[in-house]
Amino acid sequence: MQIKTVGVLGCGLMGSGIAQVAAMAGYKTIVREVNDQFLDRGLGRIRKFLDDGVTKGKVAADARDKALANLSGTTTFGELKGCDLILEAIVENLDEKRQTYATLESVLKEQTILVSNTSSLCITELAAGTRRPDRFAGLHFFNPVPIMKLVEVIRALTTSDATYQAVFSFAQSLGKEPITAPDRPGFIVNRLLVPYLLDAVRAYENGLGTLEDIDKGMTLGCGYPMGPFTLLDFVGLDTTYYIANIMFEEFREPAYAPPPLLKRMVLAGRLGRKSGQGFYKY
Ligand code: CAA
Ligand code: NAD
Repeated sequence: MQIKTVGVLGCGLMGSGIAQVAAMAGYKTIVREVNDQFLDRGLGRIRKFLDDGVTKGKVAADARDKALANLSGTTTFGELKGCDLILEAIVENLDEKRQTYATLESVLKEQTILVSNTSSLCITELAAGTRRPDRFAGLHFFNPVPIMKLVEVIRALTTSDATYQAVFSFAQSLGKEPITAPDRPGFIVNRLLVPYLLDAVRAYENGLGTLEDIDKGMTLGCGYPMGPFTLLDFVGLDTTYYIANIMFEEFREPAYAPPPLLKRMVLAGRLGRKSGQGFYKY
């Protein structure tokens, strides 16, 4: 099946980036949020990224205009009914994702492919909760989506060969470099990244050093583009906390257990850049 129109669920950090790259690649792109306020904020983030890109000389003005012309927003499910592919990027919560799929599937065409951008949930379990387990897969993008080249493609046990090929080719059509990752918590990248980030929080709690010194250590000492606390604030402490809980639930290994400080920061509303304060203030 040829993919022409794509739907994106969620216009947060990831959904906005995914909608942007899809619209830039020439797909008619419809992004759905829960209310107008979140939708306006997400669409505003896309416009700003594209405008900044033009100012920096990285995006041609007519490419920006074409992308914006391909893009529209909605708060209803009905407008997604003509989509050939739906990319889900809502909150990292199994029940929320399941409920959303159930409502969505009441409007979708039979052949529409559904993919999740989940960081850690079981793709086979998500697929099994839908009426299209063969037309379901994981497509895991990285933040910031317009800049990071990698996408992980994850097959559920039930994903058909045709769906896997279509999703892999779709990722390539966005200018991304897809890799195939197993349906195991954290896939390839988060399996290695998340324990490192959690370990940094535990080490800080145990007095290893200041936030600034630990971040400087890993950027200047190892050449990482961001230190662990800058990256945690960038990813979102809420999202990291949800991911840690899901990975710990499956592996039952201390390396994946969310550190007490991370939980308390989330409870205090310090979610990172998106809330104006995380480990650092913005
Ligand atoms: N439009 C187009 N291009 C833009 C742009 C814009 N608005 N803004 C920046 N760029 C380009 C820049 O021109 C530059 O391109 P070149 O390399 O070709 O020059 C590139 O993007 C990097 O931008 P900057 O130089 O301005 O920024 P930077 O050097 O400070 O890098 C960063 C920013 C890419 C975010 C870098 O800090 C980084 O890689 N950080 C780590 C990000 C990371 O680890 N992400 C993964 C998180 S984990 C995840 O996503 C998975 C999960 O499930 C949690
Ligand atoms: P976010 O909190 O920035 O955005 C989530 C958005 O989804 C919110 O704006 C929320 O209003 C919206 N939403 C909630 N329920 C919805 C629904 N039923 N329909 C439409 N929109 C809905 O979170 P995020 O960081 O963008 O993460 C989204 C997904 O992407 C999660 O599964 C996360 O694990 C995954 N992910 C995150 C990162 C990251 O670095 N933050 C990287 C890769 C993957």
